[in-house]
Amino acid sequence: MDLALEPVTLRLGARLTGLDLSQPLAEELAGALRAALAERLVLFLPGQFLDMAALKRATEAFGPVTRVPYVEPSPEDPDVVAVLKEADEAGIATFGGDWHSDFSFLERPPGGSLLQAVELPPVGGDTLWADQVTAWETLPEDLKTELAGSRAIHTGAPYGAARRPGGKLSRSIRISRGDPEADRERAHPAVRRHPWSGRAALFVNPIYTTRLDGLSEEESAPILARVYAHMTRPEFCCRHRWRPGDLAIWDNRATLHFAVNDYDGHRRLLWRTTFAGEAPMAA
Ligand code: SIN
Repeated sequence: MDLALEPVTLRLGARLTGLDLSQPLAEELAGALRAALAERLVLFLPGQFLDMAALKRATEAFGPVTRVPYVEPSPEDPDVVAVLKEADEAGIATFGGDWHSDFSFLERPPGGSLLQAVELPPVGGDTLWADQVTAWETLPEDLKTELAGSRAIHTGAPYGAARRPGGKLSRSIRISRGDPEADRERAHPAVRRHPWSGRAALFVNPIYTTRLDGLSEEESAPILARVYAHMTRPEFCCRHRWRPGDLAIWDNRATLHFAVNDYDGHRRLLWRTTFAGEAPMAA
């Protein structure tokens, strides 16, 4: 089944109109959505306005709905996280406000997420994604040699500790610390093969990756700094300006994302679900 996809950039992102995810999805359509996601890595569906039950049902088209460590879910539904920053929370860090792939420190990091805009600032609060298939393909040869076949160490220990100057994380996201499974170090291939498309993608990120396996943090730092600078080059990115009811669906295996924190004085609320992934396979 062919979907009418409007590309956002040459290789990343697609807008998809004419679909109503408040209705159960036929398997053929769910398969077409998975194929579109594997190809475009992030899909944008305007005007969905799903309730939490429908958001979860749509999530199931991509994989089993899964819960995530550290973050307290919405009181309305334990499978939904309310990504919220209140209008009076000025001058603080925000949830997801640096380049990352979600929960990369888990043994089986999520396959992806769905995020629906509920309440938005008049301007600002955009989200960026960066395509890690293209980033890998275009990585300078010396870095390719360094990373191919290597593993990188990830840890969830910095979760919720805002690393950027300016301090604490929004109080509207409640973080519960001390999950030993998530806080431990975990090695994953630095370049992973996508199970749906077979494509190779870089799989390190500046929040949770601490070093390359076999190297110290000091030895890894200059290598990783070059890799991060490359991974987030503007030509690998797309930026979404949200409208209420917009639904974004992203692939967490082969993208990084970044929530732009430029809307102090305004409330921003989105609902987020997550679908399960697998232990990353080396490319
Ligand atoms: C996230 O990292 O999941 C949050 C994205 C956003 O708020 O735009």
